[in-house]
Amino acid sequence: MDLKNIKIETQKEIKNAKNIKALDEIFRKYLGKKGEITQIFDSLKKLSEEKKRKIGRQANLLKNEFKEEIKKKLEKIKKEERELKLKKEKIDISRPGKKIESGHLHPLTLIQREIEEIFNSMGFEIAEGPEIESEWYNFDGLNFPPDHPAREMQDTFFLKQKNREKLPPSKKFVLRTHTSPAQIRYMEKHQPPLRIIVPGRVFRHEATDAGHESNFYHLEGLMVGKDISVANFKAIIEEFLRRLFKTDLEIRLRPSYFPFVEPGFEIDMTCLICKGKGCFLCSKTGWLELMGAGMVHPNVFKNSGLIPHQLNNEGWQGFAFGIGLDRLSMMKYKINDIRLFYSGNLRFLKQI
Ligand code: DAH
Repeated sequence: MDLKNIKIETQKEIKNAKNIKALDEIFRKYLGKKGEITQIFDSLKKLSEEKKRKIGRQANLLKNEFKEEIKKKLEKIKKEERELKLKKEKIDISRPGKKIESGHLHPLTLIQREIEEIFNSMGFEIAEGPEIESEWYNFDGLNFPPDHPAREMQDTFFLKQKNREKLPPSKKFVLRTHTSPAQIRYMEKHQPPLRIIVPGRVFRHEATDAGHESNFYHLEGLMVGKDISVANFKAIIEEFLRRLFKTDLEIRLRPSYFPFVEPGFEIDMTCLICKGKGCFLCSKTGWLELMGAGMVHPNVFKNSGLIPHQLNNEGWQGFAFGIGLDRLSMMKYKINDIRLFYSGNLRFLKQI
């Protein structure tokens, strides 16, 4: 093919090329190793000087024009492809969007916040204490005798410490077994009259079952003044329970022993299922065991740097109570296994 024909032919072919692949083939057909234009360059050496120069120049011109046209067409194809892609990618704004699943609070957090709100509205402040606690605050300061069974291995997690047995109770550490230690911590720093609740995580070295975990949540309450009595306690707790369970109910006090109160009692409330008639939940008694409570022991006041009313008529008196948040949450949401709270099982958590 001579140069003229090549020019006509390439222009036609480039014009008809539909895609990049076709364009690539055209390029190779003319400028590849054995390509038409390449061959013209190869044949130059056989020609006379004069012809070589003339044809060489024309061939160069043709080559540059050809490359330029290929380049232009390539850009055109690319542009068309881009536009086509955009057209295909058109967004259908009427389609429903992807749902973002929102989480919710854990049942224990929910009940804790609800309880905090109720007590707040009755003038109680929220106090805190450390989860790693000294034996002094956890036991001795709360009037636990040195040989009280609660201190034994089956109940308490003791921290490993060098020469532990030689250390004083204030330097020996345990994972707190209740949030009662915060009573002393708070009274050391705040002068009564006072009302606090202390929610928090506590630890017991126990075998787990449907009703027991080695890690659970407590809420301690404390109200101290010049004339705070069991009558105040009863009124506050009944009000609290009625608001929490949103139903009318009664409580009863049974004498019991806790080292840090005197007198001490355990509190039962009307069974939520049978309303006192007796059913499987309350073992046919009509009552559910709820919490421990009592009048703050004079030694606890003394250990907090306060004068108890037993020593001086002008001294302080008040009540304390301790309640398990897990148990309350189980009653409120009808959960039958405490271990579910800590299982991380979404199917359980999503039900609340
Ligand atoms: N601290 C007790 C426990 O661990 C609960 C308790 C009982 C707290 C009686 C009190 C109380 O303040 O007066 O089970």
